[in-house]
Amino acid sequence: MEETIKQLPFVKGLEGIAVAISSISHIDGKAGRLIYRGFPVEDLAQNSSFEEVVFLLWRERLPSSKELEEFKERLKEERELSQELIEILKLLPQTSHPMDVLRTAVSAMGIFHRKCNGKGFSLLDDAISILSRIPTVLATFHMLRSGKSPIPPSKKLDHASNFLYMMNGEPPEMDVAKIFDAILILHAEQEMNASTFAATVTASTLSDIYSAITSAIGTLKGPIHGGASEKVMEVLDSIEDLSKVEEFVERKISAGEKIMGFGHRIYKTYDPRAVVLKSMAKKLVKSEDGKKRLETAMKLEEAVVSRLGSKGIYPNVDFYSGILYSELGIPKDFFTAIFAMARCAGWAAHIMEYTESNRIFRPRAIYEGPKDLNYMEEKKKVG
Ligand SMILES: CC(C)(COP(=O)(O)OP(=O)(O)OC[C@H]1O[C@@H](n2cnc3c(N)ncnc32)[C@H](O)[C@@H]1OP(=O)(O)O)[C@@H](O)C(=O)NCCC(=O)NCCS
Repeated sequence: MEETIKQLPFVKGLEGIAVAISSISHIDGKAGRLIYRGFPVEDLAQNSSFEEVVFLLWRERLPSSKELEEFKERLKEERELSQELIEILKLLPQTSHPMDVLRTAVSAMGIFHRKCNGKGFSLLDDAISILSRIPTVLATFHMLRSGKSPIPPSKKLDHASNFLYMMNGEPPEMDVAKIFDAILILHAEQEMNASTFAATVTASTLSDIYSAITSAIGTLKGPIHGGASEKVMEVLDSIEDLSKVEEFVERKISAGEKIMGFGHRIYKTYDPRAVVLKSMAKKLVKSEDGKKRLETAMKLEEAVVSRLGSKGIYPNVDFYSGILYSELGIPKDFFTAIFAMARCAGWAAHIMEYTESNRIFRPRAIYEGPKDLNYMEEKKKVG
């Protein structure tokens, strides 16, 4: 008897379908609310630290001060890259996109830094190994392609400050470090988005965490997922002055094109992360280029919301983030990689949670092609 596959539920893009039961984070798309293990993300961005949030996501509770210090130490111990990994980074063309570099490096880490192979190691050990090394990979590549010697990680600095130190050659001021730390917190987790799903699917085959995070990085790279922040900067820099903003919006809408940095599958109002990032940009931005971008962005937000707000189109997390990254001296092509550096926390949390009560993902596809073709007859027809 033929399977009645046409009767299976089919939802394009899995919109509105739950694929896991989770206690990691929750989005209320109507209210514009995001919580990590019960805590509003704005509260964490203001009062917590990236390391504490990672502990919260991975260990399901806040750490005591002693536990947090020990956790920070463990992260610091795993920052260095093996010589083999550095050699791989040296071999990559300087023109490589940082997301391609990161995808390659995490894959290589699975060979040179993998712990789960050995006795007594857990998924958590490998999650620490990846999360701690991603900033070093990115900063090492940044230095190499600038013709400079990579700066080794500092054991004195926390995760956020250490990255800026390895990128810029000097430790950041405290207020700058706090802003970057908050940016990492805001990007750390976001329920079952495309890259988290990719990581979870890979992990569900009981493959290793390096493979799962490599899948996630490849998925985050796309311009309608994490790659949007880079595209937003291109848009902001292409608009000559404020008088051209409305014309730009009308042109995009009439051409049926998406405006980068706006819209979300779940948020149908302001993305709470975009609200925080905007207020941080207002505080941080001092450069003339930055001020011009911020003014253009705010005007663009006004124009898009007034035209498309009724359809639930509002700024998302990628809209204001690039303005902040640029102000911190981070090159445009690194924006998505910074996102990955933070989101690694959420990916690993979902991998650990899902595999705890694992079931391999194996959906179906509704077949619409021909059936019962005869190979010899068809071969004759094609000659
Ligand atoms: C994020 C995104 C992929 C969500 O897509 P989705 O849930 O599949 O939504 P759809 O693409 O089905 O869009 C629904 C409607 O809103 C419109 N829309 C969605 N995002 C839009 C945008 N950025 N600009 C203009 N219109 C947009 C669509 O044209 C569509 O309109 P229609 O119903 O008249 O055809 C989409 O909003 C997008 O591509 N945004 C731009 C890229 C971006 O910033 N990505 C980062 C996300 S954090």
